[in-house]
Amino acid sequence: MKKLILDLDTGVDDALAISYALGSPEIELIGITGTYGNVLMEQGVRNALAITDLLGHPEVPVYKGLPHASTKDSFEVLPISSFIHGDNGIGDVAIPDSDREAESEPAVDFIIDAAKTYGDDLVYVPTGPQTNIAAAFKKAPEIADQLGSIVLMGGSLTVPGNVNAWTEANISQDPDAADYVFRHTKHATMVGLDVTLQTLLTYKETQTWRDLGNAAGAFLADMTDFYIKAYETTAPHLGGCGLHDPLAVGVAVDPTLVTVHPINMKVDVEGPTRGRTIGDEERLNDPHKTMGVALGVDVPRFLDEFMTRITNVARQ
Ligand code: BDR
Ligand code: CA
Repeated sequence: MKKLILDLDTGVDDALAISYALGSPEIELIGITGTYGNVLMEQGVRNALAITDLLGHPEVPVYKGLPHASTKDSFEVLPISSFIHGDNGIGDVAIPDSDREAESEPAVDFIIDAAKTYGDDLVYVPTGPQTNIAAAFKKAPEIADQLGSIVLMGGSLTVPGNVNAWTEANISQDPDAADYVFRHTKHATMVGLDVTLQTLLTYKETQTWRDLGNAAGAFLADMTDFYIKAYETTAPHLGGCGLHDPLAVGVAVDPTLVTVHPINMKVDVEGPTRGRTIGDEERLNDPHKTMGVALGVDVPRFLDEFMTRITNVARQ
């Protein structure tokens, strides 16, 4: 069975990504590594511990990752993140803290060990900045070839960014890390705004979770409603909230949910377009493509899988 590592800045859609992974019997979630973005790394780890407990999976270990980009001294949550994900990252919904602590092994070392242990059977899904995996590649360069595949949520190729016209939130936090990963990965699929803004959720679906009448269902519904409400203000034309991070998990579980265009990608790390994800002109004619960009998605099938899997997890 494939093994999965989720690397999360546990905000609302990251929490939905955890739920999707726990509802996917085809793949084993062997660990969650914490990063920063929607919230500080420590808060994201706290959320991941609490959510896995609430959903009945306290066996999933959670690891602390790096708290900021290597190019910066610290990280501060952007005010827009609180508006979209709440001050606590999970829509300001209060759930019990876990009794568990994060593992003592640092996230970067866990990623390196897992790549060496599971090789081609490991899928690594970062749904925040790629600071941890870039650090792992630098510390143990051999794992770039050992790690089976990366399915990342981030970037955009055919639509504008969501931070500004050229950059998406996860890439914008650490463009240097993303560029390093894009250039060194053996096999990565970019699940960016091109597809994640096609997969939308509305209050109708979250009511299904509320109707379960239990704590897990109420949490998922209240948290996601906060996120939908933010989208009503920031992107009213969409008519729902983007299922960014769970789509990346969906693709890790079933790559046929998307159509992928093979392109060797890079990230602009200098100049006014810093953070832009774009094809690498120097590798344009290299027949060996190490990355693919998801440009089409089977929306009805994904939404069906999303609701079935997460509702099953919440029901238990
Ligand atoms: C990405 O940014 C974060 O706010 C979300 O969790 C998602 O990973 C979307 O651009
Ligand atoms: Ca995220």
